[in-house]
Amino acid sequence: MKFAAIAAVTTALLAAPAFAEGDAEAGEKTFKKCKSCHMIVDGDNAIVKGGKTGPNLFGLPGQVVAAADFKYGNSIMEVNETGLVWDEAEFIEYVANPKDWLKAKLDDPKAKSKMSFKLKKAEDAADIWAYLVSVSPES
Ligand code: HEC
Repeated sequence: MKFAAIAAVTTALLAAPAFAEGDAEAGEKTFKKCKSCHMIVDGDNAIVKGGKTGPNLFGLPGQVVAAADFKYGNSIMEVNETGLVWDEAEFIEYVANPKDWLKAKLDDPKAKSKMSFKLKKAEDAADIWAYLVSVSPES
């Protein structure tokens, strides 16, 4: 019986849409993985004090790719020129493997990313997206 119950729960989880609403509170915790390189700073207001290896992620949702004040790599700047805007699906795909995302977007097997970190779980990425939305200005 126990087995059947577990199977039912698993089926319910698998039936959920791929990009289910993320959990902003969980995302705030998971953002610890990003903090060594990324801050979330709105002018003088440091929402998350983080590292400077990567760009400030304040206001990222709905923002053009690679639009912060940061010395980005050449590949992501090529995406910036296309005017692509960050949405949840692009974000989840990007953080799973920034280099592969750039390769696919630019159709260039030599594309390079300055972000070496990969966030494997799409669920964690969805949570972080929800967190970023929650701390961003309303648009
Ligand atoms: C080891 C450092 C490092 C870690 C850890 C890291 N990043 Fe990055 N991230 C970078 C760098 C460097 C870039 C700039 C990439 C480029 O120029 O190619 C970047 C770029 C980005 C961008 C594009 C920003 C823009 O302005 O368009 C997003 C989104 C992003 N990171 C999200 C995350 C998230 C979410 C995490 C945590 C799960 C994370 N990163 C963890 C270093 C890191």
